[in-house]
Amino acid sequence: MLNGKNILIGITGGIAAYKICELIRKFKKNGANVRVVATPNALNFVTKLTLQNLSQNEVYVEEFNVKDWRPEHISFADEADIMLIAPATANTISKIATGVADNLLTSIACAFNKKMIIAPAMNCNMWNNPVVQENISKLRSLGVEFLEPESGFLACGYIGKGRLCSIDKIYSSVVEALNYSKKLEGKKVVVTSGGTIEDIDPVRYISNYSSGKMGFAIANAAKNMGAEVVLITTKNFEAPYKIVKVKSAIDMQNAIDKEFETSDYIIMAAAVADYRVKNYSQQKMKKTNDDNLVLELVKNPDILKGLCDKKTHQIIVGFCAESENLLNNAKEKIAKKGCDYLVANDISRADIGFSSDDNEVSILDKSGKIVKLDKAPKKVIARQILEYINE
Ligand code: C5P
Repeated sequence: MLNGKNILIGITGGIAAYKICELIRKFKKNGANVRVVATPNALNFVTKLTLQNLSQNEVYVEEFNVKDWRPEHISFADEADIMLIAPATANTISKIATGVADNLLTSIACAFNKKMIIAPAMNCNMWNNPVVQENISKLRSLGVEFLEPESGFLACGYIGKGRLCSIDKIYSSVVEALNYSKKLEGKKVVVTSGGTIEDIDPVRYISNYSSGKMGFAIANAAKNMGAEVVLITTKNFEAPYKIVKVKSAIDMQNAIDKEFETSDYIIMAAAVADYRVKNYSQQKMKKTNDDNLVLELVKNPDILKGLCDKKTHQIIVGFCAESENLLNNAKEKIAKKGCDYLVANDISRADIGFSSDDNEVSILDKSGKIVKLDKAPKKVIARQILEYINE
C-alpha cells in the first residue's frame, strides 16, 4: 500500500516516543521508505539503535552532518512525500508555529512545503494552555493536519486529554493523506457545512444538530486534491482556504450566489433549515400568561434546487439525511432537486452522521445508480465522494 512512498518521521521528547517503534514497523512492512529524525530529547525515551533497526535507515538528530553539498534539512524535506511528527511536544509544535528552526527536526519542518501531520502528546494542562492552542490553530489554518490526543491516564499521573492518539489512527491518516489524487487541480469547489441558525429574537434561535464535520472533511479533501476551495459554514473551522462564516439560510444563499458562477463543483453538505421565523422580534420576547406560544414560520428558499435550476457547467451534489426509508427518500429527492449526485446518510444510527467522526453513505446519481460507501472516518468518505464524482 505504501510502496515507494517516502515518509519522514519526526520524533520529539515525550514518553509516547516508544509507541512510534510499532508505527515504523508497520510503515516498513507495507513498503514505505522511512527516515527518522529525532530531537535530542526524544533519545531519552527511545534509543537510536532501535529506531535505526526498525526503519532500516540511519537516524538523524544533529544538524550540519552534511555528507554531500546539500544541507540535510533541505534534502530531507525535498525527498519526503509526507512529514509526520509523532509524538509532538508543546515545545516543538510552538517552535514550528513560530518559524523557529533550532534543531534538525524544526529546520526540516520550516523548509517542508508538502503534507504535514502532527500527532501531539503532552500533559493535559500543557495541551489546554491557550498559547499552545493558538499555535495549533495557526498551523491548522496553514494546512497542517492535527491528530488530536485522546483523554485518559497520562504518564505524568494526571487524567485528562493529552495521550497520543492510537497508532492505527496515525497509520491510517498517513495512508489516507498519501492516497489523494490531484484530480481537482484548476477546479473551484464550493462546500457548505453546518446547520443554519434561524433567529427568533436576539437571544433565541431555531437550528439543528449538524456539526458541519462532513462538509469540512469534504472541503479538506478537495484542497488535498488540488482544488481552490471555498467553505461556507455556520461553524468555526480553521483551514488553509477561504472560509465564509454564515448564520441563516438566507446568508448561506447569498454567500453561495457570490461564488456560483466561477465554481466547478458545489457540494451542499449543510443542514439548511427548511423554515425560518416569519416575524423576527427585535426585542427579547417576554413570557406571557398564555400556556402556549405560537411561532409562525415561513419557508426558506431551497438553495440546492435553486442552484440546480440555474446551473450551467457546475456539478452539484446534494446531501440527504433521513431517519427512515433512506434510499426511497433519496431517490425521490434527487429527482425533485435536480442535482447531479445525492449523498444519502441514515441519521437514525448513533455511530454515524451528525456529531460522529465516522459516516456511512450511499451516493445516488441521476441515472438511478447507487453506490454504497462502507463505514469509515469522514475524511475517508469525503475523499471517496470526490473521487467518485470525478471518475
Ligand atoms: O430537502 P432536504 O432538506 O432533505 O434536502 C437536503 C439537501 O438540500 C442538502 O443538500 C441541503 O444542503 C439542501 N437544502 C437547501 N435548502 C434548503 C433545504 C435543504 O439547499 N432550504
